[in-house]
Amino acid sequence: MIVAVDGPAASGKGTLARAIARHYGLPHLDTGLLYRAVALSVLRMELDPAVEADAVAACGFEDGLLADPVLRDDDTGRVASIVSAHPLVRAALFQRQKRFAQQPGGAVLDGRDIGTVIAPEADAKLFVQATPRIRAQRRHAELKARGDVTSFDKVLADIRARDQRDSERAVAPLAMAADAALLDTSYLSIDIAVSKALAFVEAQLSTRR
Ligand code: CDP
Repeated sequence: MIVAVDGPAASGKGTLARAIARHYGLPHLDTGLLYRAVALSVLRMELDPAVEADAVAACGFEDGLLADPVLRDDDTGRVASIVSAHPLVRAALFQRQKRFAQQPGGAVLDGRDIGTVIAPEADAKLFVQATPRIRAQRRHAELKARGDVTSFDKVLADIRARDQRDSERAVAPLAMAADAALLDTSYLSIDIAVSKALAFVEAQLSTRR
């Protein structure tokens, strides 16, 4: 069984995808990490993320890079949203995500285009949303806990800029699949959001059985 969890930055999709994976005993892939790894490689190779050929040259990163804590930095996320707009970067990462989704027994993937492009055949699809201000508060708290002193206003401006870039790009924009369930986590605790997400998944699975 494949579960697709999509949504904008800091909407809670990663937390929910991990909880769903744990609940069903499925492997989980945070696809944002792949784009973050391309971003970090571009920066380390001193190439230009806005130039498609430069970003493509960074797609052959070593798997070990996926464990680098620098991937979680705000700056890496910002550059990830620049490299991820290039069609050839998305094409270079496509098969890897598709293979993960189609492994025997199933998988949970979270990202921006899982339910629309990577696994349109998914058995359950969630689109996780929250207001920009609340997402910025969460991201700001996360960064602060890691010793990052970026101001709240900058985090909010970054979230808005990324929403715009991710939604307006020509290829695989951030968009809710027509058959996805919408979960707004703005005013939900993690526990309640997880139980609502599991209830949505169960409801979708029961209609497809
Ligand atoms: O953690 P956060 O939600 O801030 O971001 P992420 O999921 O790690 O993704 C970083 C960036 O990669 C996003 O802003 C998107 O531009 C891009 N991305 C994408 O285009 N497609 C995906 N399936 C996952 C991420």
